[in-house]
Amino acid sequence: MAQNAQDKAPSWDFRLLASADHGIVGEDNLFFDAEVTQGDERDYRYHYTWVNDADPTEIGDDTERERSTFGFIAPHVGDFTLTCVVRRVSDDQTVTKTAPMHFTDGSELRRTYVYDPNEESVIKVDDVSMVFNIASEQFNSLKEYFIALMRHELKFKEFRALDHINFEVKRGEAFGLVGTNGSGKSTMLKIIAGVLEASEGKCTVNGTIAPLIELGAGFDMELTAKENIYLNGALLGYRKDFIDEHFQDIVDFAELQDFMEMPLKNYSSGMVARIAFSIATITEPDILIVDEALSVGDFLFQQKCARRIRQLVESNHVTVLLVSHDINLVERMCDRVCWIEKGHQRMLGPTAEVCAAYKGLGE
Ligand SMILES: Nc1ncnc2c1ncn2[C@@H]1O[C@H](COP(=O)(O)OP(=O)(O)OP(=O)(O)O)[C@@H](O)[C@H]1O
Ligand SMILES: [Mg+2]
Repeated sequence: MAQNAQDKAPSWDFRLLASADHGIVGEDNLFFDAEVTQGDERDYRYHYTWVNDADPTEIGDDTERERSTFGFIAPHVGDFTLTCVVRRVSDDQTVTKTAPMHFTDGSELRRTYVYDPNEESVIKVDDVSMVFNIASEQFNSLKEYFIALMRHELKFKEFRALDHINFEVKRGEAFGLVGTNGSGKSTMLKIIAGVLEASEGKCTVNGTIAPLIELGAGFDMELTAKENIYLNGALLGYRKDFIDEHFQDIVDFAELQDFMEMPLKNYSSGMVARIAFSIATITEPDILIVDEALSVGDFLFQQKCARRIRQLVESNHVTVLLVSHDINLVERMCDRVCWIEKGHQRMLGPTAEVCAAYKGLGE
């Protein structure tokens, strides 16, 4: 029966819509949607298959489904061909379409950035050191603490979280900071953002900063998400009518439409990160500072953030400062990297060199 049905050319057709024809492994999904042009779409079944062009034995076969959409996550770098077969149930006729896909590790999509030491610096870290005073004794109660304070017996020891750090970041540069836990990266970012003042040395910044430093910094957990968007926006220097105008974009990017009236204390940490990232990147700041804020989002949101950061980097005038333990992300995003280890500056230079040396730590 099916044989006879295929003898006649089908009287219907479909369009194969793809979100893009290329993507980055681990960062992007490609989405496909077969849009039938006639009839009731419930009368159709969809069957997607993909093949690795370089190795046709590598086939991803999805069974026939009722939904017209298909998400393809690249298993690795390479060229693939996606085939979509749409079958009309009522007469068993099929139509087939194919689409080429190309996946890369991101290196070939990177803009070429040439470091020019003579260009204006937007961030200048000049021999910066940070010394924290840590109480050297433990007190069991506030009373004991006050007695020691009154008797001038409070003792502190100095802790050097950063020791003579020097680097400059140029306009439009994507600059990374790497180092093991407790090495001073967040402290460095806080000094640049003006949250902390350096104990020694000087840090100068030219331009507006959108800092994504600590989760929830700039938020009031008792207020609703909506109120917090206005509060945080005001802290970033946006006027109320500006936030009014962009409010929906912020909510859409965060994908939290139904949670706007909920107090932030009931949000999960990933949801807070979504709001924070959406506000900070709704316009192009001069300088975007990102400290691991992405890592609590789920993988889809991380991909979305990575794409947004990439757009900002590729605009060539937003300066991005990125701290992450995801060394692949740093390698894909950054032009230059500074490695700070236990407060000391170990290396400063092109991303590939510094990341290779840093990764050598574990060997
Ligand atoms: N306010 C503070 N008072 C005392 N010590 C502090 C303070 N803030 C940070 N430190 C110390 O400074 C050091 C550097 O901390 P920092 O948070 O900058 O590290 P980091 O490189 O961001 O680490 P991670 O990778 O774990 O985020 C740590 O030893 C930390 O305990
Ligand atoms: Mg940190």
